[in-house]
Amino acid sequence: MSEEIRLNSSKLGTKEYWNQFYQLEKNNFESNDEDTGECWFDDSDAEAKMISFIIEKLTDQEFPFQKSDISFLDLGTGNGHLLFQLNEDLQEEYDGEESFNFTGIDYSPDSVEFAEKIAHKKYEDTDFKFQQVDLLKKDDAFFSDAHIGKYDILLDKGTLDAIALNQDPIEEHDGKIGMEVYASQVSKFMHKDSILLITSCNFTETELVRIFNENSDLIVWDKINYPSFQFGGVKGSTVCSIAFILKQ
Ligand SMILES: C[S@@+](CC[C@H](N)C(=O)[O-])C[C@H]1O[C@@H](n2cnc3c(N)ncnc32)[C@H](O)[C@@H]1O
Repeated sequence: MSEEIRLNSSKLGTKEYWNQFYQLEKNNFESNDEDTGECWFDDSDAEAKMISFIIEKLTDQEFPFQKSDISFLDLGTGNGHLLFQLNEDLQEEYDGEESFNFTGIDYSPDSVEFAEKIAHKKYEDTDFKFQQVDLLKKDDAFFSDAHIGKYDILLDKGTLDAIALNQDPIEEHDGKIGMEVYASQVSKFMHKDSILLITSCNFTETELVRIFNENSDLIVWDKINYPSFQFGGVKGSTVCSIAFILKQ
């Protein structure tokens, strides 16, 4: 049997940590509305690369879905930065024929409150939806007909990474841990032509593909290239971004 992929447990794998984190970011924003919080993996330019990837695929009509009203679902949205920036860049690129809608979900109520605050204060003209959802809970109200199979592009920047830092067995998933149930849980929001674009700094490309292949019907569709380094004969990069699609 091949070796299991596991990360060490860390406080970054707990809801308490993220509540405190976004509580602090929210307070900072309240005293200075230019401070919209941390942009994870900024040093690798991950957010900009994810957005360019999406805009290029849309422009070249390469996504498997062919439609002009596109729904985004940001999994573990944090401060919502990825969605806000995506909206700004899409608005610059497209002039109205296409319509985009943005939903961000996160299990931290402080994240949701914070993202809503930013949306209200800075992006009043766009209808961002933020909702508290635990991606690993089968009976979370978000796993309903209104959302199952409804999103064209799912995004994850650092959320599986955080989930994988918690090794507690989950009873409702027969004792499996979060990173083993994540892919099948989130793929419920996809239809047959949706894409899930995920960026990770805790897993290599090979590990990420293995986690998805072993635990869901998701297979690689495309990936983003990052500058790579070579160390001791092993090639690598600090983050990886992979787009998955459902096996047809
Ligand atoms: C590293 S942060 C990334 C936040 C955001 N994607 C970004 O790039 O700024 C990880 C996020 O995952 C969220 N998260 C962790 N476990 C989750 C779960 N089971 N369900 C929903 N969100 C979760 C945390 O609350 C946190 O906002």
